[in-house]
Amino acid sequence: MNKFAGAVQAASGNVREVVSNQEGPYKDLEKQVRKYAAAEYRRPIAEHTRKAFQTIEQFVERCTVIPAAEPESPLTSNHRGGAINIILDSGCGTGESTLHLARRFPEYPVIGIDKSAVRLDKAAQSANRLAESDATHDLPRNAFYVRAELIDFWRLALDKVKAGQWNIPYHALYYPNPWPKQSEAGRRFHLHPIFPTLLQLAQETELRTNWEVYAQEFALAAKILGYNATVLQFSPNPPQTAFERKYNEARQTLWRVTISH
Ligand SMILES: C[S@@+](CC[C@H](N)C(=O)[O-])C[C@H]1O[C@@H](n2cnc3c(N)ncnc32)[C@H](O)[C@@H]1O
Repeated sequence: MNKFAGAVQAASGNVREVVSNQEGPYKDLEKQVRKYAAAEYRRPIAEHTRKAFQTIEQFVERCTVIPAAEPESPLTSNHRGGAINIILDSGCGTGESTLHLARRFPEYPVIGIDKSAVRLDKAAQSANRLAESDATHDLPRNAFYVRAELIDFWRLALDKVKAGQWNIPYHALYYPNPWPKQSEAGRRFHLHPIFPTLLQLAQETELRTNWEVYAQEFALAAKILGYNATVLQFSPNPPQTAFERKYNEARQTLWRVTISH
């Protein structure tokens, strides 16, 4: 059984629409969120993620010399003295969004993180194909993919932020696995002990999902922790990820949650 168990075929095509035995926000959401906010998450960090993290630190060092090539956005002015600005694309899958973000933030290193070697291989292959098919196409030098477990990666990244070494103006969390069964709700990022760490990382965190309940829960959990959160329905133009394209073609409703301090 796949991890979207409980999902059914959407009438509009062969793309699955999320179906859940849960209609509104998870009943114990506030209790869970407050419980995890009150305790430090102590699961040991896997050695392979520590090693992967070192490759990012090296990449980030190399990237700091990339010149600014595009007009300033409101986020680019959000630079803290001494800290290196970094953009995160968590659960980047086949990596399209990482390339979009690298073009949107040309002066910052953009890190696409995923635990799936298969998806990251596809990301590298399509980036290479793009470069071969169009010699004038400049692949963003500021994009970097890394295979890592997010739950561990985020804690290592927060150490860098707290040490004043990294500043994360924008964190993309596009279409995380929804875990729609109530019995699996604890696997949703906002109902997991990692949530307080996740929200502390960036000035702006953007979650995208095709499941409204996930969007509303994520925003509610963030508000409980004192963050600003807005939920908006949106139409991607153009789609930024493989999943976004599939959902868009199937005419599913998409949701964007923006979290800020
Ligand atoms: C539904 S896919 C979305 C991929 C991409 N963002 C997109 O929109 O096309 C979710 C991705 O998150 C990755 N993922 C889920 N949990 C993860 C974790 N704990 N650590 C790292 N990657 C994770 C999966 O491997 C998968 O590629």
